[in-house]
Amino acid sequence: MNWLPRPADGRAWVAPSLLSADFSALGADIRDMTAAGADLLHLDVMDGHFVPNLTFGPFVCEAIRRVSDLPLDAHLMISRPDRYLQQFADAGVDAITIHVEVEIPVATTLDAIGDLGLKRGISLNPGTQLNTILPILDRVDLVLVMSVQPGFGGQKFDPVAVEKIAALDALRRSTGRDFLISVDGGINAATAPACREAGADILVSGSWLFGADDRKSRVSVLAG
Ligand code: DX5
Ligand code: ZN
Repeated sequence: MNWLPRPADGRAWVAPSLLSADFSALGADIRDMTAAGADLLHLDVMDGHFVPNLTFGPFVCEAIRRVSDLPLDAHLMISRPDRYLQQFADAGVDAITIHVEVEIPVATTLDAIGDLGLKRGISLNPGTQLNTILPILDRVDLVLVMSVQPGFGGQKFDPVAVEKIAALDALRRSTGRDFLISVDGGINAATAPACREAGADILVSGSWLFGADDRKSRVSVLAG
């Protein structure tokens, strides 16, 4: 297991979302992003049920593990994450992030992720109130705030995420908890500063990072 501490004040770790990578040359794209300064990799797993889109599962995560030493966060946009935890652990991911909107017991699923020796992430959609995750905050290592409706890359950033990040950061300070705050969707040079200032530790970015000729400068712009 390979994970990251909180970044320095005003800085953020950069997590390319591989959804926007070239899957015909995935290894090369991962090596290129790593050379550009990526701090961890964000793996978007979709089941065509929790979200309308389909992507990949543990099999591809295991292939990614073989070409990268970076921490891997599996963002599970699937209705039954509880059925696949062991497979993602065996694939070598470092963190599993599940959605609070799933219709299964979230707290026990988070505990099961921890029992596998992995970091526990919880994610919430733009339309989901922050109070839905408050009762489980002592069971998570990471909160992934969605700034777009999950399912597709290339959507517009929803500023509701900034308010949630700020509220989570305030809560973290007042309670002494140390979970990381990550934000996912529509992150670019224009939207990243408000997220960092509000307290985000990890910025996930897909289309904006992979669409660049100079990825290194884009990674450093996001890092702050
Ligand atoms: C959306 C995914 C995101 C997405 C981000 O469902 O969770 O990780 O790939 O892509 P961009 O940065 O293009 O919004
Ligand atoms: Zn994601």
